Amino acid sequence: MVFKTIFSIKQKDMTKNQREKRLSQLKKILVIGSGGRENSIAWALSKHKSIEQIYVCPGNAGTSNFEKCICIDPQSEDQEKIILECLKLQVDLVVIGPEVPLAEGLTNKMRESGLTVFGPCKEGAQLEASKGWAKELMIENNIPTANYWAAFSEKEALDILQRFNKPLVIKADGLAAGKGVVVCESIEQSKKAIKEIFSGKFGSAGEKVLLEERIEGPEVSIFALCDGEKLVVLPPAQDHKRLLEGDKGPNTGGMGAYAPAQLINQQDLQDLTELILIPTLKGLKERKIDYRGVIYAGLMLTSSGPKVIEFNCRFGDPECQALMPLMGEEFGSVLLACARGELEHAPKLTFHNICSVCVVASSEGYPENPRKGDQINLNYDLDPSLQVFHAGTTLDKFNNIITSGGRVLSVVAQGENFEKAFNLAYKNLEKIEFDGMHFRKDIGYQVRNNKN
Ligand code: AMP
Ligand code: GLY
Repeated sequence: MVFKTIFSIKQKDMTKNQREKRLSQLKKILVIGSGGRENSIAWALSKHKSIEQIYVCPGNAGTSNFEKCICIDPQSEDQEKIILECLKLQVDLVVIGPEVPLAEGLTNKMRESGLTVFGPCKEGAQLEASKGWAKELMIENNIPTANYWAAFSEKEALDILQRFNKPLVIKADGLAAGKGVVVCESIEQSKKAIKEIFSGKFGSAGEKVLLEERIEGPEVSIFALCDGEKLVVLPPAQDHKRLLEGDKGPNTGGMGAYAPAQLINQQDLQDLTELILIPTLKGLKERKIDYRGVIYAGLMLTSSGPKVIEFNCRFGDPECQALMPLMGEEFGSVLLACARGELEHAPKLTFHNICSVCVVASSEGYPENPRKGDQINLNYDLDPSLQVFHAGTTLDKFNNIITSGGRVLSVVAQGENFEKAFNLAYKNLEKIEFDGMHFRKDIGYQVRNNKN
């Protein structure tokens, strides 16, 4: 606490020049997480000349493929140990990738220890960690979203369903690793989903259930980097949530993405910023939340206008992998400025004018029961427009790279148009193999000529 007071006085006394200089002197960063998202953030930051070292905790088998990037212990999720490590390494900035540590309050504890963190505090992470909380914030701030009803017991939920007498979308309120939403085709399916959630399928995440009207339309994701007061909007991205081609099969964390999404133009993005992102940040401020991190809004463009389907309190995975190659040199300074609440002093974030695409290779059994331990052969081309970001990978005792999770690799490529970018990504996917490897051949069907 004493440390914190000294720290804030120092900040207050700084001149504008000192602040700007400090933002450009970012040297050591620690990224929390082990997925493709964190691998791509580390890669993007490694491009900055001033940055000397990027630690990824715990990282994966691909982390050290990139200049200046290394994995560090603790491998554990022990927050105290991670904080001690950050203090020992004297990192200038911590970037927290996944939602779980954010919802558990890692940011709060880190800030109390004097660390500078990009990622919202526990209170702000409720935007993702409680769908009911996010809905209330949307309604209070006139942010368009699907109509919904909240239920705290199976009986209450079944009564609501009976009253409406049509299939509703059933959502567990809390974090459920992307599996807590069932888009139901029939009333029977809605009943089954309600019963499953209240019987404890998602633990405490399912103590409250939202029943939502089903809406229709293409989906697109928009993102803002926030410093509590101001925000910077990133190019929109298109995710592909279903496991199989033709948007069939179960929902996954995401099987591929591309950016900038073509469904909305620059003017639409400006309008959506005013309609959704600015009011969300305002709503957070009104709740006394100093939100310093990503606001991710998943939208559906319905015939009656855009509606928010979900908020996330972090970068999307795999959208992040497609977005990172678009970031200009200023990316690291902008993250630091957000974390310090000083976006007004940050350089303007620029974006490369190219098309960037990501295709995810997943393991046998994903998403329900991914198999681990398959050896991976990586023979891809060395090409500055191609990145292979690791996610569920690790090294065995012989130093072979083996699978260790559901989404194993993200193959990311850029080109002057989407056709070229996808051709490069798919050409290289053919050179990567592991037993049970699966990828969708139709990622980007919306923007490709050859629609497979
Ligand atoms: P979420 O986990 O909230 O992103 O939801 C997963 C997916 O379920 C979304 O990407 C949508 O495709 C679908 N979904 C969620 N809510 C609705 C809704 N109210 N109507 C139709 N589809 C929905
Ligand atoms: N790709 C969607 C997510 O990260 O939640």
